[in-house]
Amino acid sequence: MAAIHILVGSVYGGALLTAREISKQLASEGHRFTVLESPVLNDLTESDEPLLVCTSTTGQGEVPPTLLPVYQELKDLLPLKPGRAFGVIVLGDSSYGDTFCGAGDLMEEVLLEMGGHKVGETLRIDALETTEPADEALPWVRNWIRQLP
Ligand SMILES: Cc1cc2nc3c(=O)[nH]c(=O)nc-3n(C[C@H](O)[C@H](O)[C@H](O)COP(=O)(O)O)c2cc1C
Repeated sequence: MAAIHILVGSVYGGALLTAREISKQLASEGHRFTVLESPVLNDLTESDEPLLVCTSTTGQGEVPPTLLPVYQELKDLLPLKPGRAFGVIVLGDSSYGDTFCGAGDLMEEVLLEMGGHKVGETLRIDALETTEPADEALPWVRNWIRQLP
């Protein structure tokens, strides 16, 4: 069973709570997760485990400060083994218009540039539509895990 690394980006805690809930609920179904609240590059390079980005969006479509160092390091380095599986869950607010869930697009872009293999469609969770992001994330993650190579 894969031990999935969750890369968390969160300002006010919504994405972090979502990641913790994924880890807790799906652990009881036999999946293993490592929740990386302030990930550093080593967390990514020391294994080949699938990566699950779980981030909110801040500023104007930007990656939250907790995830920004890794995002910037990934842009400068090419440490991922080609074919590393990843998926993206992004929290945002559609009232922000063009920058809705922009952090997810930025993370997808950098992981693809590094040769990552995107599994599944990005899950975009709109704060205007739900106050319980984990309710949307859990079924999505179950389906995502089934698609992992
Ligand atoms: C200062 C600020 C800027 C934001 N900018 C965006 C944005 O550009 N695009 C977007 O989709 N959501 C934006 N949001 C909405 C957050 O991403 C959304 O509320 C999310 O659920 C917060 O998750 P968190 O608690 O993990 O930080 C912004 C929220 C704040 C407070």
